[in-house]
Amino acid sequence: LFNNIPTDPPIEVFHLTELFNQDANPSKVNLGIGVYQDENGRTLTLPVVRSVEQQMAQDLTLTKNYLKGTGLDAFCTACLKLVLGEQSPAIVENRACSIQSLSGTGAIRIGLDFLYRNGFRTAYVSSPTWGNHDSILQTIGFEIRKYRYWSKDKLTLDIDGFIADLEAAPEKSVILLHACAHNPTGCDPSREQWIRISDTCKSRQLFPFFDMAYQGFSSGDLDQDAWAIRYFGHEAKHELFVAQSFAKNFSLYNERIGHLVGVFESRDIIPKFRTQMATIIRRNYSNPPAHGAYIVATILNNPTLYGEWKNNVRAMHERIHSMRQLFYNKLKQLGTPGTWEHIIQQTGMFAYTGLNPRQCQVLIQQHHIYIMSDGRINVCAITQRNADEVAQKFYEVITT
Ligand code: LMR
Repeated sequence: LFNNIPTDPPIEVFHLTELFNQDANPSKVNLGIGVYQDENGRTLTLPVVRSVEQQMAQDLTLTKNYLKGTGLDAFCTACLKLVLGEQSPAIVENRACSIQSLSGTGAIRIGLDFLYRNGFRTAYVSSPTWGNHDSILQTIGFEIRKYRYWSKDKLTLDIDGFIADLEAAPEKSVILLHACAHNPTGCDPSREQWIRISDTCKSRQLFPFFDMAYQGFSSGDLDQDAWAIRYFGHEAKHELFVAQSFAKNFSLYNERIGHLVGVFESRDIIPKFRTQMATIIRRNYSNPPAHGAYIVATILNNPTLYGEWKNNVRAMHERIHSMRQLFYNKLKQLGTPGTWEHIIQQTGMFAYTGLNPRQCQVLIQQHHIYIMSDGRINVCAITQRNADEVAQKFYEVITT
């Protein structure tokens, strides 16, 4: 039956990690996958998460019984505030709700499933975007279109191209937006630019769907990083979705914990939305896992733990930021041809270096530096110890 099934290509970001793990060279560096690493190259459990897990281990009331399909209430209520803000009019007016999901990817999937079954057929993604956006949209059956985002010449956001593409979009198109710390470019719209994007979505009747995988990683501040979502939802009164991942900012990668936020015009939509989400989830995985939800709910609902988590997020942000500056300094000191200011202007976990696929291949094959073929690097894989060598290898591939 299966003798002639095709082989799929490997998933680049995971394949790169496998190659890296198999590489015996002691000076290898994995600049590929977007996973936070400390100065010693380790991905540790956050201190605040560790302490909550210790507490959970002693709590005999915690059970492994099923959660509802739409998730743990204490988790969803707290997450909604984290995204929309404590004073959110949409929350006060009961026009918003959160559905627990299998991290950000799961939230994108169930959100898009809902939109497709309710008549949406066209979706726009930034050019470039996180590779999985296209794959999920394609699997569901959406027609995928791109909006201009990154200008290769100017090494910055092409806001006029972006707006022009939105203006040409058919009504009821889904517009996938990165709430902050754009993956892969690290380049976010300014507030003025977000307002233009919001105005265009409004006048063209487009549906904004935010992907927020990095809240806190762009500015170090959770509220600032949610600014665009709150502007769209409150000031501009859009109906919108947000897919949030807690993989990065809680360092809960393998717990698959996140949620989907829906903000609607009227509170009457919420009960209907919930029934549809329960159906979609039931048909896919029935109900979500609980461990990550308990951790996040405990932290978000306790002011002391919440304060500790904010500090943990700020510390990760600061380290990434300083490695960005360090790498830039090293490239400049070497006199590496080209402009490198874009690296320090970008934010979040990634830098979009501008290296071409051939240069990236050489870095992997000859220098044991693992890098995505679009030139994206995970900045926190750079450390005080490896920065000189990584910069030197960049210099070599650029000059030869
Ligand atoms: C990345 O972009 O490297 C991460 O979000 C990991 C992934 O799933 O692609």
